[in-house]
Amino acid sequence: MSSYATYDFLLKFLITGDSGTGKSCLLHQFVENKFKEGSTHTIGVEFGSRIVTIGKNQVKLQIWDTAGQERFRSVTRSYYRGAAGALLVYDITNRSTFTSITKWIADARKLAGADIALMLVGNKLDLEEREVSYLEASRFAQENEMAFLETSALTGEGVEETFLKCGRAILTKIE
Ligand code: GTP
Ligand code: MG
Repeated sequence: MSSYATYDFLLKFLITGDSGTGKSCLLHQFVENKFKEGSTHTIGVEFGSRIVTIGKNQVKLQIWDTAGQERFRSVTRSYYRGAAGALLVYDITNRSTFTSITKWIADARKLAGADIALMLVGNKLDLEEREVSYLEASRFAQENEMAFLETSALTGEGVEETFLKCGRAILTKIE
């Protein structure tokens, strides 16, 4: 892509959720199209961006990948400002990361505004030892007025769709 790439819209998103759920791997898979080997906890926030086509528009997705560890909570909270959307990530093989979602929803709605587009993302779909069923999560998402998708940052399944879906949801609100 040319370094003079232009776009019609710039959308700021956040990725939040407990530590170890795969937020950084999801961003890496979306931006680089491959699985990020070797795991390191995010310190504060990391950043990635990509221009995608949504309908007739070229849309730049500016994505802030926040640290899930509790000690970074005050830093990551300062990044919600101006965010149009957030992906709230849990690990389908770890129930407590799903239970925490309520807390991540509250943060997002309080700090970014009640009309932020929220998307629930159940990651690690490639693993067998599931602790949260698709049905339960999809009901929870409905009750909380969020879109829902399951992904694997390892295989790439659902990743592109998740980011595009969040982008589309925001664009339909602002256009
Ligand atoms: P923090 O930065 O601490 O908040 O964690 P994070 O949510 O960014 O998690 P990260 O992306 O660093 O991934 C945590 C661990 O899960 C790593 O060991 C990854 O290799 C692994 N992982 C991430 N996504 C997947 C996935 O889709 N499938 C499998 N099997 N492992 C994954
Ligand atoms: Mg991370």
